[in-house]
Amino acid sequence: MCGIVGILGTRPVAAHLIDAMKRLEYRGYDSAGLATLEDGHLARRRAEGKLKNLEAKLEAGPLAGTIGIGQTRWATHGAPTEANAHPHATPLVAVAHNGIIENFRQLKDELIAAGRVFSSQTDTEVVPHLVTIELEAGASPQEAVARVLKRLTGAFALAFLFEGFPDLLIGARKGSPLAVGHGQGEMFLGSDAQALAPFTDRVTYLEEGDWVELTRSSIIVHDVSGKEVKRAAVISQASAFLVDKGNYRHFMAKEIHEQPDVTGHTLARYLDLAAASARLPELPFDWATIDRMVITACGTAYYAGLVAKYWFERLARIAVDIDVASEFRYREAPLSPGGLALFISQSGETADTLASLRYCKEHGQHIAAIVNVTTSTIAREADVVFPTLAGPEIGVASTKAFTCQLSALLSLAVAAGRARGVLSAAQERAAVDALAEVPRLLVEALRLEPQIERLARSIAKVKDVLYLGRSTSYPLALEGALKLKEISYIHAEGYAAGELKHGPIALIDETMPVVVIAPHDEVFEKSVSNMQEVAARGGRIVLITDAQGAETAAMETMATIVMPTMPSLIAPIVYAVPVQLLAYHAAVQIGTDVDQPRNLAKSVTVE
Ligand code: AGP
Repeated sequence: MCGIVGILGTRPVAAHLIDAMKRLEYRGYDSAGLATLEDGHLARRRAEGKLKNLEAKLEAGPLAGTIGIGQTRWATHGAPTEANAHPHATPLVAVAHNGIIENFRQLKDELIAAGRVFSSQTDTEVVPHLVTIELEAGASPQEAVARVLKRLTGAFALAFLFEGFPDLLIGARKGSPLAVGHGQGEMFLGSDAQALAPFTDRVTYLEEGDWVELTRSSIIVHDVSGKEVKRAAVISQASAFLVDKGNYRHFMAKEIHEQPDVTGHTLARYLDLAAASARLPELPFDWATIDRMVITACGTAYYAGLVAKYWFERLARIAVDIDVASEFRYREAPLSPGGLALFISQSGETADTLASLRYCKEHGQHIAAIVNVTTSTIAREADVVFPTLAGPEIGVASTKAFTCQLSALLSLAVAAGRARGVLSAAQERAAVDALAEVPRLLVEALRLEPQIERLARSIAKVKDVLYLGRSTSYPLALEGALKLKEISYIHAEGYAAGELKHGPIALIDETMPVVVIAPHDEVFEKSVSNMQEVAARGGRIVLITDAQGAETAAMETMATIVMPTMPSLIAPIVYAVPVQLLAYHAAVQIGTDVDQPRNLAKSVTVE
C-alpha cells in the first residue's frame, strides 16, 4: 500500500522523484523518502507525514545525483516515523518497498544473530541487509538480488540502488505492481503508470515474479526462474497532467460532482440508447450457460456487488454467491468449472480481490472484472474487463467509482437477462430508459447539497449513527455508514431495516440519528413501520426518500431529504449522492483530512 519510484536520469533527479511520488501519494502518505547517488555515494532524505515535509527537508538539504529511488509509505510494520520511512539502506544498497514481506521476522532474527544492526521496525529493512551480505561475499548486484528474492515470501515490489553503480537500477515484482518507463536515454520504475506519466508514456508492466535490471540504455527482464524474457512496451493511457481539484476544496467534492458526467460516459459504453438496448463486448462465455456466479470485492466495491446481487438475481435469474474478498479467498468455495466469477475494484490492485481472482482462475472460472484502472493487475489477469470510465479517483473515499460500478453492473445484468431469454425486449427497454436518466437524476440529487450540508452540521456533533435500508437500499445503508466513518471518524453502522427488531433497536435513543434510505418502492411500507418503531423510542430519523415517500410517511423527522422521483431499479445509483454528501460535509465540519483520512490508503495492496 505504498508507492515506489526509481529514475535513472540524465539530469538532477530529486525534484522529479518528488513529482512522481506526488502522483503515488494516493497509495499511502504516512511518511516518504528518497535516495540518490551523489558522486556514486548513497545519500538519503526521509520525513514523517505528508510529502510536503520531505520537500521541506530537501529545500534545507538538497540532494544531487541523476539516479535515485523514492517511496511514499502506508505503515504496515512499524509506526509512521522518519526511522521507518523508506528507502532503507546499508552503506552498499538502498531499497524502496511496497507490500509485505511475510517472513521478515525469521529473516531479521537470522540477520541479528549474524551481527547485523537494524535501525527500524520495518519488514523492509531485512532486504538491504540480505543483499549486503551477498555483495560482501563477492556477488554482483544482480546476483545478490536474484538470491535474496528467493528468500522473501509475501507480496511486494522493490527498487534497488547500489553504492558505486551510477548506471544501474534493479526492480522486482512479486504480488504488487511495478512498471518500467522507457525514456530517451533515461529509464524509470514506478508502482503504476500514473507515476511515470510526467516522463514517458512507453511502459513495460512487469509480470508476477519478474525482476528487471535497468541502465540508461538497456532493460533486461528476468522471470521468476531467472530466465531472461521479453516484455512488451505499451503506450500507457495515464494522463501526464496531475489531476487537480479544479475549483473544489477537496478531490472528494470534485469527484462527487463529476458523477453525472462519468456515469454518462460509463453508460454510453454499455448501452445503445438509441436502440434502448444493452450492448456488451465479445464475451469469452455464453450467459445462457451461467446460472450461478460469484461476486467478490472489498469495501465500497463490495457494496456495489451487493446491489448487483439483487439485479442479477431479479433480471437475469442468476444465483449470486457474494462475499468480501478477504473471506472468500480462504473459504475454499466449491466452484464447478466453467462458472463465472466477477471482481469489482476501483484500483484493480486490491490484494484480497486479486487473490480471490487467482483462486477462481485456478478453479476454472471465467474471470470478469469491473475496474477503473484498466492497466491494473486485476484488469490484466481477467478474461474480460468491463471498465468504469470514472477517470482517476484521488479521494480515498470512493464515490464516482461506486456509481460507475453500479451503472456498469446494471447494464451487465440487463444484458445477461436478455442473453438468457429471461428479460423481454420491453423490460430491457424500460431498464435502459431508466439507466439513461441516471446522469440527469444525479444532477438533481446534487442540487440537494445545501440542505444536506445544513443537516451535516448536526450529524457532525453526534458519536454514533445507524443507517437502515431494505432491498437494494440495504447495501446503500452499508455504504453510507462506511463513507461517514472513514472520513469523519464518527462511528456508523449499516443494517438491513428488517433486522432492527433483532437487536439494534436496543441502541435507539435521542443521541443516535437513524438514517433511513427508502425510495417509495415495493418495500417502502415496511420501512415506514421500522421508522415508527424508532420514533416510538425517541429515536431521531433522517429520511431519504422521494415526494411520494415523504407524503406517505408523514412523520416527524430530524430531516427529510426528498429525492427526485425515479424508477426504483436505478435508485441505488442516485441515492448514493445524499449519503456521500452527508459524510463529506460532516467531515468538513469536523475538520478531518477528507481526501486522505487517517490510517487509510486509496489502494489496499496488502492483506
Ligand atoms: C471506499 O471508500 C474505501 N476507501 C475502501 O473500502 C475501498 O472501496 C476498498 O479498499 C476497495 O478498493 P478497490 O475498489 O480499489 O478494490
